[in-house]
This record gives sequence, C-alpha cells and structure tokens, in this order.
Amino acid sequence: MAAIEDLIKQIADPGLRDQLAAEVARLKATKTFGLVFEEHLPELVRLPALPVRAGVRVMKKDESGTATYRATSQVNGQKVKIVPDAGGTEEIVERDGLVVAKAFGEPMYPALVPVDAVERAPGKPWHVLINADNYHALQLLLYGYEGKVDVIYIDPPYNTGARDWKYNNNYVDDADLWRHSKWLSMMKKRLELAKRLLKVRDSVLIVTIDEKEYARLGLLLEEVFDNPTVQFQMVSTNVNPAAASRAGRFGRSDEYIYFVMQGCSPARLPLSREWVSSRGRTHTGAPRWDLLRRSGSGASRDDSPGCFYPIYVDLQARKITRVGDPLPKGTSEPAALFGSAPILPIRKDASEGRWMMGPTELRSRIVQGRVRVSLEGRRKKPVQPVLYYLADGEFKKIEDGEFSVRGFDVDGSMMFAEPIEEGVGEVLAVPSTQWRIASHDSTQYGTRLLAKFIPGRKFPYPKSLYAVEDTLRFFVHSKLDALVLDFFAGSGTTAHAVARLNKQDGGRRRSILVSNNEVASDEEASLASQGLQPGMPKWEALGIFEYVTRPRVVAAFTGRRPDGKEIDGDYSFTDVFPMSDGFEENAAFFKLDFLDPGDVTRGEKFESIAPILWMLAGCRGACEVTKGSGKWFMPKENPFAVLHDEDAFADFVRNLAERPDIDHVFLVTDSTEGFHEMAAELGGEYKSIQLYRSYIDTFRINLAEPGTISPAGVPIFPTAPVTSLPPALGVIDAG
Ligand SMILES: C[S@@+](CC[C@H](N)C(=O)[O-])C[C@H]1O[C@@H](n2cnc3c(N)ncnc32)[C@H](O)[C@@H]1O
Repeated sequence: MAAIEDLIKQIADPGLRDQLAAEVARLKATKTFGLVFEEHLPELVRLPALPVRAGVRVMKKDESGTATYRATSQVNGQKVKIVPDAGGTEEIVERDGLVVAKAFGEPMYPALVPVDAVERAPGKPWHVLINADNYHALQLLLYGYEGKVDVIYIDPPYNTGARDWKYNNNYVDDADLWRHSKWLSMMKKRLELAKRLLKVRDSVLIVTIDEKEYARLGLLLEEVFDNPTVQFQMVSTNVNPAAASRAGRFGRSDEYIYFVMQGCSPARLPLSREWVSSRGRTHTGAPRWDLLRRSGSGASRDDSPGCFYPIYVDLQARKITRVGDPLPKGTSEPAALFGSAPILPIRKDASEGRWMMGPTELRSRIVQGRVRVSLEGRRKKPVQPVLYYLADGEFKKIEDGEFSVRGFDVDGSMMFAEPIEEGVGEVLAVPSTQWRIASHDSTQYGTRLLAKFIPGRKFPYPKSLYAVEDTLRFFVHSKLDALVLDFFAGSGTTAHAVARLNKQDGGRRRSILVSNNEVASDEEASLASQGLQPGMPKWEALGIFEYVTRPRVVAAFTGRRPDGKEIDGDYSFTDVFPMSDGFEENAAFFKLDFLDPGDVTRGEKFESIAPILWMLAGCRGACEVTKGSGKWFMPKENPFAVLHDEDAFADFVRNLAERPDIDHVFLVTDSTEGFHEMAAELGGEYKSIQLYRSYIDTFRINLAEPGTISPAGVPIFPTAPVTSLPPALGVIDAG
C-alpha cells in the first residue's frame, strides 16, 4: 500500500491523483494491518450464584465446552426443560446440573461481597483484592477509576501450552492450534479496558512475558497503545540464574518485561553496582565521550567532503588552537600553523575519513566544553592526539542535571563530579535493558519466599517479591500516593511489594489486585472425581484467590501464617527486617458476584453495591456494609454519603454539615435534572455522583460495544439493547 501511495503522489493530473488516492483509502479501510488473529467465540461466564429460571441462558455443569441452552420452563422444582442455543431437541434435566451463563453482550449486574479485611493502619487508604474474572473486574473499575491509575503491573499466563490458563472454561494446551490466537483475543479485550484506567499523561503499563508470547504481545501492545507519544521498551531479565536446561537448546534463564510509558519515564535511583556495570561503555556512571572521527558506514571523506578539515592541536598544552575549513577536493595537505599539529580524520588503514560534524558545529561545541583532546600512544610509538566529543543525548543528561560539571580541563572539555554515591557501593542511575539482579531470582525469592507465608500451599511461578518491588520503584519512587493495579494477581506479590515500598519511605500507595479463583488443572480433575463442582464451598476454598492470594496477603500484612504462627525469617536486600513485623497497611478482600435482576427491584440490594461506592470514594476507612433502609447513609468511617430519598435532601444537607471529612456524595434519583439541582446546591466541595433508583441499573457490565457481531449460527447475543459502557451517569467533580 505504501508503494502505491508513493506512486499516486507522482501522478501529475490532480483530478486523477485525488480519485485514485480516495479509492486506495477506501481499500485500506477494509484491510487489516499488523497483528492478525481470530476474535473467537465471545467468552462465556458461568454464574453459579444466580438461580436457574425460565428464560435464562444455562450451561451444563458437567460439560466443559461452550454449549449453551435456554431454560424454557420449569417442569417441577428439581427438573428444568432446556433447548440447545445451537438448535436441537429439547430435553429435561436436573436443575442442580445447570448453571446460569452470560455471554459477552448480556448485561450483568455486579456486586462486591466483602470476604475478609485486615486493618493495621487506621487512616491509611486500603488495598483492595477482588476474586473475579479480570474482564468483569476491569469493567467495574472503569466506573470509578477511569484515567486514575498510575501503574498497571501484570504477569499474565504465559501460554506455555501446559494448561496454564483457560479460555471459555477450557484449559488451553499445546494441542490447541488456536492457542496463540485465543491468548491474543483474551489479552486484547483486557488491555483495551486497562488502557482506559491508566492516567493519560503520566502512567505506565508493565507486562512480564517469556519467549512463548513476547513477540505477539509486543505487536499487540503497539496496536492497543497506538499513539506516537507512547514509549515502548522491553527489558530482558534473568529470573533463573541456574538456567533451566533444555535438551538441544540454550539454557533458559531470561524473561522479558514490557514497559508502555505514557508521558513518564523510569526514575534515576540509587542502585547497587549489580545494576550498573562499570565495564563496557554504557553505564559507567559518567557521560560517554564518543570518537570525533566517524566510523562504520558513511565514514569516508567522499561521503561528506565538508567534514574533511584540519583541527590544529597544541600538543604541549593539549588543546585545540584552531579549526580549519574543509580542504578542497584533491587536496590532502592542510596549511601549517606555528606550534600546532594539524589533525585530519585519517582512518587506521590510512584512508581519508571524516569528522562527525562540520567545522562550524565543532567550533560551537568546543565553546560548550563538548570536545576533548586525549594524547594516546602505545609503547615506543609517538603520542597521537585522539579527539572525542559529547553527543547530544549525553549533553542533555548534563543539562537535565543527571551529571554535574566540576570544572573544565586544559583542553576546555567539561570534567564531571564523581557519580553521586548513596550508600556503600550504590550509584544513582537509570539501568540498561539487561537486568541481572540476584534478588530477582524467582525460585529463591518467589517460590521459596511464598512458602514462608503460606507453607504447604503450592502456586506455580510467583514472581520474586524484590523483582516486583524494584520494577515498580522506577515509576512510583516519587509518587507516594500512587495507585497500582494488577489484574493477574496470582499469589498477590504486587500488594506485598507495594507494602514494602511504603515501609521504605512512609508512602500511602495502594494497590488493587484481581485474581480469579481457578483451581489447577490436575486438581480440577481430582475434585470433579469426588463429585464436586465449581461454586461449591469445598471447591472454591481451593481456588487461587481463596487458597493463595488472600492468605498470602493477610500473612504478609499481619506477619502471621494461616496456622497462626509467626513468619520465620527476615526480608533481605533493600531493607532488612523480620517478616513477622508485617506491615502497617489495610486490605479489604471481596468476591465479585452478580445480582439477579429478577430479584432486585426498587433498590433492595443496596448492601451489594455499598462496597462499590466505598471503592469509588477512594477505599478510605473500613468498608461498612448496610442495607440502606434509611433516608440517607453516612458510614462513620468512610468519607462518603448516600442520599436514598430525594425528599429528605434538606435534612441530608444539615447532617452533612456535621461531617467535614465527607467529600463524595451519591445521590439516588432517576432524574438527571433532579441530580444536577441537588449537586448544584451541595456546591463544589463535593464530588457528586448519580445513582439510579434501581441500584443495580447504575452498574452494568459485560455490555457489547455497538456493532459487535454475533458468531454465525450461535445466538450468543441477547435482544437486550446494546449500550455503550459504562452507562452514562451523572458525575460532578469537586472543586
Ligand atoms: C502468572 S500468574 C501471576 C503470578 C503473580 N505475578 C505472582 O507473583 O504470584 C497469572 C495469574 O493470573 C490468573 N488469571 C488468569 N486468567 C485470569 C482472568 N481471566 N481473570 C483473573 N485472573 C486470571 C491466574 O489464576 C494466575 O494466578
């Protein structure tokens, strides 16, 4: 296409040129560029908490595929008549063998159910951990956190082929020919939501990955974050110094970390010498001087005749006395200058080369102190002047204050202060994209460290606690109130790392973590053989969130293991203290549930959305749950208020005056006009948010974007109206 466009530009006839250009633009719009993959059947969600009623879509609990049915009528209390969505004959089945399913596009009404809480720092904001499929959790988060997140750190399933993740309720293994495509489809939907949560001007998305999907992930990130101002980088990090040996292949020790930076960059931090190699030229902790004579391509005199000129050097004084003009073609003899030697860009093979820049530019760089004369000579050979210069990138580091100038040498070149030392063996620097850090070993400081907190509970491949902490630090170092999101939370390392960062500098950063509650593939088979099914308490207790994420974070924060014993051992590296100290942090744990619209009328389910309001109001104070039966609700410990009954507005305002801590007000009304009137009366001190009378209608997720196409032959999409997500709500910001 690019070639055709270039050819079109050459057409002299403007009419023909414009017509062809328009035709090509039309064709281009129908062609897919970049990463091409199948969209796949939309993901289906099983909702075991919802009742099987006539008219709902259901799946059979013992079927692992994506077959869905419509429950047509209730035959009696135990039996239900169902018809396959894909067509086929009706059958009568046990109600207990069915589970309600929602397809992408069918509205779902989320509820946050508190399951646990740890409060160790009254007054500090709370970390939130949610047991949910992250797709739904991200949609719910959009209601309160769109454009508010500083850092998203995720470590998604690496799609190794070893049944390490599920698509549509089925483990994806290496026999699945569509596994890369399914993975991309899963990731794309989540990354698109995640992007909306990030602060537009100052945020970073960090994604870890290994060799199975790094190439596809890179393309996907560029596609989702398609904006020239976004900076992408990939770090290669050694997480397994022992290197897993692979027959006939290189030992594998690295994985990769993508950084998608929107208007921010990694901070310069005091780092141990491990991070900053003093060998090689890159990160010596001082600016890098480059040879003034060009090497590599385009380095001959003919390539740039204007850069072949003499530079006169006083060898006694080691300084440049004059910069001559380019020598005319055919001339190689510069004029003599008393007391100075003319230096020409002659290459090692004695051929004529060129300087990096013309004489005018060089003269101005000499004035800036950016040109250095070095007298270099090997034994028994005469001393030769070698000229160096500071490239623009290095000079900018000085202008930015990364290096400080302590004076000027005899040749007029800048001399730099020793790299700033902070603590023994530390240097202030931004590291390179190769990390070889002992504390990032995921066996030692991931798996083994986790075993201290939740002994006997296995979790595959947790990250090194210190690796996550170090990675985050580059972006939250000076953001003491940063909000960090991890929606593939696994064992909860990210919340633990944020707590450690806070301890180091008194920060009030908080994290939101999301993990599903899946059981491992082998465990699933064993549980099923005992007649257990997802949704049953025994099954759910062994899922990742309940069995690993929650107990790990509770143990880390309280310093006590699930069996009540103190955690044995000390943290190492950045700051050493007993693990049994725990942290002065608060954490609230929730399960994302779904409400049955049939059950909920006139707002009886306020208690299910109260925790959502607590989250929207900034997770401050222990989350108080109430049925919301009064005319208004002002939880004692939370700085928000809810007006349930518009008629009680005047009274509500009077009571509000006694609560100066409150800054968020939720006003329940179906009238937009009424909402605006009340918000105006409250004034700019409050962030006012409208809630619909039927609370569940306020928060609606899983809605298809307009234009989503149903897969042929399978009536996945309901007749319900397609609304954009989230539904428009009245929100008036404070101030
Ligand atoms: C590679 S692990 C993350 C490990 C984590 N960084 C740690 O240090 O423990 C990926 C996790 O994502 C979870 N996960 C996978 N798909 C998910 C989904 N759709 N929603 C929520 N969690 C999911 C899995 O349960 C798994 O624990």
